[in-house]
Amino acid sequence: MNIPIRPRRLRGNPVLRGMVREARVSPEQLIQPAFIIPGKGKKEPLASMPGLCRFSVDRIGAEAREILKAGIKAMLLFGVPEHKDEKASGAYARGGIIQRAIEAIKKAVPEMYVITDVCLCEYMSHGHCGVVTKNPSQPPFFKGGSGGIIIDNDPTLELLAKTAVSHIKAGADMVAPSGMMDGCIAAIRAALDRDGFANTPIMSYAAKYASCFYGPFRDAAEGAPSFGDRKTYQMDPPNVREAIKEVKLDVAEGADIVMVKPALAYLDVITRVREIVDVPVAAYNVSGEYSMIKAAAANGWLDEKKAVMEVLTAIRRAGADIIITYFAKDAARWLSVF
Ligand code: PBG
Repeated sequence: MNIPIRPRRLRGNPVLRGMVREARVSPEQLIQPAFIIPGKGKKEPLASMPGLCRFSVDRIGAEAREILKAGIKAMLLFGVPEHKDEKASGAYARGGIIQRAIEAIKKAVPEMYVITDVCLCEYMSHGHCGVVTKNPSQPPFFKGGSGGIIIDNDPTLELLAKTAVSHIKAGADMVAPSGMMDGCIAAIRAALDRDGFANTPIMSYAAKYASCFYGPFRDAAEGAPSFGDRKTYQMDPPNVREAIKEVKLDVAEGADIVMVKPALAYLDVITRVREIVDVPVAAYNVSGEYSMIKAAAANGWLDEKKAVMEVLTAIRRAGADIIITYFAKDAARWLSVF
């Protein structure tokens, strides 16, 4: 006798629907980025990222308190220095903007977990992520090209290692190198170990694509390259095998967490990376992804809360353990009322 099997629909009842849900977002997994600017008493709204402000060092402690109150326990810091030069000296200066911001946050909210972006672009007068030389194999500065830019890798590593150590000395809990320099994780690991910070973890921006979705961030952090682009050191968007290669190298060099960035146009990359590593995977829900939702919501085209929760859940479903998102504070508040 043939018994027809009709599968039950487990989404018919809201309790059951909640029970069988495969991916969830929890505030514990979210990291809130923050931009620190020079000056005093500043809380400056960002035109390209509505709803977000940049803070001066004396105001960031109060903001950290707000972030913690919302339920977010980790921040990722970016600095906009007073002056830029060809050596990015503001990045590793004692008393530099990030070093002071770390101290201010730790003083106001000792339990806040402070992560710092370790990159030189905000501190370099040319806005690139490392020491720049011209690439002899490319015609320089042709239209639509990468401007003949290559980064002088090894001198850059030295500066990045110095920067990472100075952040940790100022009290940061973890460093996140974002410049896609070869050997950067090994160089930072060695420098941290040498200075007695063997227990400090490194979150590597392991698969970072040369994406147009960083547009609003470059306004916020004032780190847009003044010539050329980042295509010679950031990844080419069509590639996923290359992402696997980059991630494996970083894990071998000692990365404790690997990141995929951006998140939304790269969900398949997150999934692939999750499958091949045993370390936690982070995804960066970048500035352009934030501003798109904000713009659509402001026009009444999208329900902001629903769009944000759908997007964050999708990033989790793709396989990210950790999400860095400008929506962290709001999402944590929304999650607590559900
Ligand atoms: C610095 C850095 C960038 C972002 C994070 N770290 C900009 C870039 O590489 O051009 C982008 C973050 C965002 O868009 O939210 N290297």
